[in-house]
Amino acid sequence: MAELLENYSLKKHNTFGIEAKARYFFRFSSTEEISTFMQNNEIANTSYLILGGGSNMLFTEDFDGLILHPDIKGIELLDEDEDSVLLRVGCNEEWDEFVGWAVDNNLYGIENLSLIPGVVGAAPVQNIGAYGVEAKEVIENVEAISIESKQPVVFSNMHCEFDYRNSVFKKEYKNLFIITHVQFRLKKKAELKVHYGAISKELEAYDEVNLKNIREVIIKIRESKLPDPEELGNAGSFFKNPVVDKEKADALKAKYENMPIYEVNDSETKIAAGWLIEQCDWKGKRFGDAGVHKDQALVLVNHGNAKGYEILKLANDIRKSVLFKFGIKLEMEVNAI
Ligand code: EPU
Repeated sequence: MAELLENYSLKKHNTFGIEAKARYFFRFSSTEEISTFMQNNEIANTSYLILGGGSNMLFTEDFDGLILHPDIKGIELLDEDEDSVLLRVGCNEEWDEFVGWAVDNNLYGIENLSLIPGVVGAAPVQNIGAYGVEAKEVIENVEAISIESKQPVVFSNMHCEFDYRNSVFKKEYKNLFIITHVQFRLKKKAELKVHYGAISKELEAYDEVNLKNIREVIIKIRESKLPDPEELGNAGSFFKNPVVDKEKADALKAKYENMPIYEVNDSETKIAAGWLIEQCDWKGKRFGDAGVHKDQALVLVNHGNAKGYEILKLANDIRKSVLFKFGIKLEMEVNAI
């Protein structure tokens, strides 16, 4: 059932656990409910924001407008052939519960994305990725409602313009479409990716390399260095890993031989932002309740009652020092509101 709330606390709706209030908060569980609301309600014309699981949001102040929160659930089988299934998943299903469900049903493709916080509807927005896999590899279509026309729209994978932690929903269509469902094509036959980082090494302890064991290993690796938002507020990687010209990366590498780099193409190289931040001596630092995680410097944390603007100030100080020491501008992965 749809409901409209006023002066509503967003603390439980962002994984940073930041206290901020929304003037209006509209929760809905079907495409009909949101269409009716937008066609008949005056406040639908005030400034608005679409909020999923809040796993990539930093509220720096109260939001004096309308928050639209889709609460659509369910996993439906749309199509099946010998090799794969096409699933339609409601935007407010917890991402990791969906991954667990896929693994339990012997479906391949998202096991490396185990334990990423947030909901299914956020997966296409920032093309979530980890351990050598990105959501774009399994997303077939994204169903949304256009705020302008109030009509349902289907975006094919190509129209989503997926890129590293990016999509059309973060660029020209930012805040213009409410994602209601995501359609995933998952494989019935094993296609495992175990060559990223520590995965294959961790798998040596198991007698078989299978779907369930990979999920277990990924969960173990993530838990060893990424804080659980239920225990310590955070939004995963706060910055993107910067992509720089190959010449610049080579010059830095000559000076700092331990610098972790990843080839992007012939002319560009990606550098591990966590390493850059650690080199500037931020790892584990704390200013009031805003801090840098002790095991992964790319993650900013809320030790309790940090304000959004305090986290943002820390982020800006980090950016300045990385720019000063390495001449590299870090871009935020998190959306500051
Ligand atoms: N490193 C440091 N110090 C740190 C953190 C990292 O030296 O404080 C070094 C590591 O030793 C390693 C390299 O940097 O050599 C890369 O670290 P890691 O493997 O932890 O991955 P990352 O590049 O920091 C990215 C994603 C993560 C994803 C992991 C694993 C981005 C912005 N982040 O992190 O995604 O889980 O790879 O695939 O691309 C997220 O987006 O929220 C997220 C957690």
